[in-house]
Amino acid sequence: MTGLDGNIAGKSIIVQGFGNVGYWAAKFFENNGAKIIGIGEHDVAAYDPKGLDIEALFQHRAEKGTFRGFGSAEIIEEPIKLMERECDILIPAALERQIGLKNVKNIKAKIIGEAANGPITPDAHDYLVSKGKVVIPDLLLNAGGVTVSYFEWLKNLSHVRFGRMSRKWEEAGKDKLLTLVEENAGRQLTPQERRAVIHGAEEHELVYSGLEDTMIGACEETRATAALKNTDFRTAAIANAIQKISLVTTQSGQMFL
Ligand SMILES: NC(=O)c1ccc[n+]([C@@H]2O[C@H](COP(=O)([O-])OP(=O)(O)OC[C@H]3O[C@@H](n4cnc5c(N)ncnc54)[C@H](O)[C@@H]3O)[C@@H](O)[C@H]2O)c1
Repeated sequence: MTGLDGNIAGKSIIVQGFGNVGYWAAKFFENNGAKIIGIGEHDVAAYDPKGLDIEALFQHRAEKGTFRGFGSAEIIEEPIKLMERECDILIPAALERQIGLKNVKNIKAKIIGEAANGPITPDAHDYLVSKGKVVIPDLLLNAGGVTVSYFEWLKNLSHVRFGRMSRKWEEAGKDKLLTLVEENAGRQLTPQERRAVIHGAEEHELVYSGLEDTMIGACEETRATAALKNTDFRTAAIANAIQKISLVTTQSGQMFL
């Protein structure tokens, strides 16, 4: 997520849902310098234009079972109304069909990121796009979970953890390289410096790396198709997916069975 710092810092964010997806989305936004001004749950929403402390809010809800009584935050009794407040980015991360024709005209966010599955109805999506809003579709935005499930499937096929065969070999290669660098530079690295460079990737680091690469690739492909076809990101993501299925089906000979 560090590559996003410049874009996300200072942006105001509203998140609907404080479960697995909403909590972590809020955490990552906060860690990258954004201001989380509202979080909605099934009973109430907490709103503070100065920004909510996500970990403190999480602890408060874990203890009290509600956002009520959290610092100076305004409590919104009809939580769906939180999504109509001014913000830069709105993240529906709870349920499907939360933005429909009955409330879409009140949505003020410039960017809506579908962290939940299907939180925007098709008509509401078209309305948002017609108003120049950017909708990042669930198909793209929340694909990280299934991507890592795919990595798990790959691992299960080989019965070997990622990096097991290559980690020590890579560390030995980097060790030799550093020795050469030290000889030429005329300076010995400290043990900490040496360890920082040599350290071979742990399995979770490889998974994060693969996930980042996959998601960046998917974003770039979607953006390119949207520009080429002059269409929205949802249509572009669906077009790319259908094209991939078509390609795999053709290449595997399924078309000719
Ligand atoms: N967990 C994943 O890996 C994953 C991956 C991709 C997509 N999704 C999708 O993201 C959404 C959330 O999944 P999750 O895993 O975070 O579920 P979760 O059950 O952990 O969290 C959902 C949260 O939404 C809250 N909620 C329920 N009704 C609400 C309402 N009316 N207004 C506001 N909040 C409400 C719940 O109390 C809960 O805290 C679902 O649509 C799910 O399909 C999840």
